[in-house]
Amino acid sequence: MPAQHALKALKAAFPWVQTPLIIGAPMRLISLAPLAAAVSNAGGIGFIGAGDDVSSLTTELSKTRKLLKNGNQKPLPIGVGFIVYGANLEQSLVAIKEFKPAVAWLFAPRLASDLKSWFKGIEAASEGLTKSWVQVGSVAQALESARLAKECGTDISIVVQGSDAGGHGLVKGAGIISLLPETVDTLAAEGFGDIPLLAAGGIVDGRGVAAALALGASGSVIGTRLLAATETTIKKGYQDVVISTTDGGQTTVRTHMYDNLRGTTGWPSIYDGRGIVNASVEDAEKGMPFEENKKLYEEEMKKGDVGWTGDRARMAAYVGSGVGLVKEVIPAGKIVEEVRSKALEIIKGLK
Ligand SMILES: Cc1cc2nc3c(=O)[nH]c(=O)nc-3n(C[C@H](O)[C@H](O)[C@H](O)COP(=O)(O)O)c2cc1C
Repeated sequence: MPAQHALKALKAAFPWVQTPLIIGAPMRLISLAPLAAAVSNAGGIGFIGAGDDVSSLTTELSKTRKLLKNGNQKPLPIGVGFIVYGANLEQSLVAIKEFKPAVAWLFAPRLASDLKSWFKGIEAASEGLTKSWVQVGSVAQALESARLAKECGTDISIVVQGSDAGGHGLVKGAGIISLLPETVDTLAAEGFGDIPLLAAGGIVDGRGVAAALALGASGSVIGTRLLAATETTIKKGYQDVVISTTDGGQTTVRTHMYDNLRGTTGWPSIYDGRGIVNASVEDAEKGMPFEENKKLYEEEMKKGDVGWTGDRARMAAYVGSGVGLVKEVIPAGKIVEEVRSKALEIIKGLK
């Protein structure tokens, strides 16, 4: 079970949260003001997925503040997710200084040491109100982040992302069932046992949350499940394919193909993305030259919100391998409450 001190620290930093702590993943272009606010309003921590383009972040934070139940609180009860290799630090700090979100979630620096200027900048801009979280995909990345934070004198939390996760993650990975406890043990052995760990990757319902807590997490991140929330900014076709896809181990894949097709090719090479297997991936495996594949993808794009379902679907639908557990589109607040209460029921049933 999670270390009591880590839970205490999280509760003190985020007084509006209810436990078990549910966190809405920052999903670029998808988790914007309505979804992020709905998750926080339900006692979780909602995240705006600013990603690598922070040009509209102040607008998004301003919209979020209006939607939050406690929008007048400091820190603002919301988080922002940054993709560090691409996001402009100065511009990000302007938004942090103005709004003081409770968390800045940092993912995918080009060099781990790039995190240092983020840690220091966030602390200064927010006057210590915005906490830094780092999403990692390996024990080594977790340890390196802990050491860098110590050098900067910053208290961080670490999101441990397993290979089941939807969207981007490490090409080489492990599921959280082994990755998380090894990270817990390694950090403790190296004197970083106080760092709260959050679990991400394949957590969809209360069963996943109860499991993550047993593995040593202080909170659970849900991404794929929230693709099917009413407040999510998502194409109808994408949402339809999320709720109709089953057996994610067979129907999703980690690949660079979607980045190559979409032109999002700035990612450091250790990252790829998990999404639904489609005709683009199958054709590439059969040897179709990339230029021809891209032409077919672009033709499909021009048709609008189609091309998500069926054998010849070509649109890139990022989802995790837990997609088969997502069955209906319901409000995010209901998802958070349902996942949290089911987890509690399971934990109480163990006594
Ligand atoms: C559609 C989609 C977009 C994502 N975008 C981001 C992102 O912009 N930044 C980030 O740090 N993680 C992103 N992620 C990864 C999530 O933060 C998280 O690790 C993942 O969703 C957890 O696994 P799950 O999808 O199985 O719940 C994304 C995930 C998905 C499914």
